[in-house]
Amino acid sequence: MTYQEINEKITRTGVVPVIKLNHPRRDAGPLARALCAGGVPVAEVTFRAAGAAEAIRIMSEERPEMLVGAGTVLTAAQADEALSAGAKFIVTPGLDVDLAAHCLERGAAVYPGCTTPTDYHAALKLGLEVLKFFPAEQSGGLAKIKAMSAPFPMFKVMPTGGISLENLGTYLACPVVAACGGSYMVTANLIDNQRWDEITELCRRSVEIVGEVRKNG
Ligand code: 3PG
Repeated sequence: MTYQEINEKITRTGVVPVIKLNHPRRDAGPLARALCAGGVPVAEVTFRAAGAAEAIRIMSEERPEMLVGAGTVLTAAQADEALSAGAKFIVTPGLDVDLAAHCLERGAAVYPGCTTPTDYHAALKLGLEVLKFFPAEQSGGLAKIKAMSAPFPMFKVMPTGGISLENLGTYLACPVVAACGGSYMVTANLIDNQRWDEITELCRRSVEIVGEVRKNG
């Protein structure tokens, strides 16, 4: 998939579940099915848990239509591990220019966490079009996103950090926002207790909100 196609799929879906799997072999398959059943065929599997690469491989095989990426990628070695496992995109918490360039050289989409004018300058040099805005709520939320888009109107953002069903619609209504990332539909409690139906239902409600905002926008 090209960078543009990945951006489009993320934008079309509107939400990106941020997933930490403690038991990838047990949970990755059912989770992939639960997300797709709820209309969210996108997942960011974080390297905060061991076995992230294995989870990426299982989810991609279980649901080939899914766009599976890696999150909390801190090193080029982790990026390589994720890409070898089938990750289509790499999310990094901050902007490490060398790491982002490494991902681009390997043909992967990369979404670095950016919240400052300095970050945006560097992202522009890298040729990026969509940035993770992280941590969104703690960094000034929508007000900051809008202020940043005045000098940098070329970027769309993926706010992540503090997103919930309550504020999802408000974020998505902002034309600068491509999609929102979040763990609210895939919390540790839901995953560890294998509450797949609830995950599907939270995804379905999220997709409903995406639909409503886009219909009115
Ligand atoms: C991330 O790594 O992207 C965030 O921790 C997700 O933030 P949330 O748990 O507030 O959704």
